[in-house]
Amino acid sequence: MNQPSATTATLPQGTGFGATMRKDNWWIGPIGIASLLLAFLIYSTWAAFQGAFYWVPGTNYLSPFYSPEIWGNSPHAIIAGQPSFWQSWMPPFSAALLILGLPAGFRMTCYYYRKAYYRSIWLDPVACAVGESRKSYIGESALPLILWNVHRYFLYAAIAFVFLLGYDGIIAHMFPVNADGTPFVNVKYLADGAANPGFIEANATAPHHHVFGMSMVSLVLILNPLMLAGYTFGCHSLRHIVGGRKDCFAGGEGSGNGLHFKAWSFVSLLNRHHALFAMVSLVGVGLADILVRLVAMGKISDFRFF
Ligand code: FES
Repeated sequence: MNQPSATTATLPQGTGFGATMRKDNWWIGPIGIASLLLAFLIYSTWAAFQGAFYWVPGTNYLSPFYSPEIWGNSPHAIIAGQPSFWQSWMPPFSAALLILGLPAGFRMTCYYYRKAYYRSIWLDPVACAVGESRKSYIGESALPLILWNVHRYFLYAAIAFVFLLGYDGIIAHMFPVNADGTPFVNVKYLADGAANPGFIEANATAPHHHVFGMSMVSLVLILNPLMLAGYTFGCHSLRHIVGGRKDCFAGGEGSGNGLHFKAWSFVSLLNRHHALFAMVSLVGVGLADILVRLVAMGKISDFRFF
């Protein structure tokens, strides 16, 4: 039988930034991902500073960028008004500014996103077998990138957000109505943050109830946490934690605690599609905010399925 003989392969690697012998369109991936990440970053930053049009009177819709609303003027706020520690030299108060750091930090330190923006935005390395400008390599073993190890702690917050947004998605399907079936809109403030001139204090607790329904926005608001769950529960750090903090299951299930192995296997199932969930959930959360915002501004009408 012929045995394969050892050969010396020459990698299509050039020297100097961007130099390569690759013939494929390797640059399409980095450009596409950079465009998506930058578009999301710009939009989400803009939306977070608005402090208005993040909820829709007459519904239970709340933008995921603003949930949980710890302080605020919408009926979703846990504490009415703005916090006393918000100083006059700070930007105008927006409930999103209090919470968005947690999901943003989770994504920024995610192993998949690190690869994505190291390649597409930092261009270091830009792609396999493509030359880079860097002369030495310390990886993530020194400052500042060693700080990215904080990812596992952002994970705990991210898990809480999945459940909070899941709750928002469920109540988005409960539409408040008056006894005659018309939308209950006796709210103190309007979606733009201004006081509602039609608000009647005595009717604030008037009898009203909720009817179950589904609309375009409520559907997106429930799909969003499902996508986020697929992303969060496929996290590499979570896999390590639920697997019992082992580096290897060399002997399969019998080598350790069976429950740990089952949990590790479940997370691994989602982890195989981690990049896909990362991108789909990013688009989903942005789309949810855009739809709530446009409906709140009256730019589009929500479509009610039933
Ligand atoms: Fe991507 Fe943890 S590695 S979310």
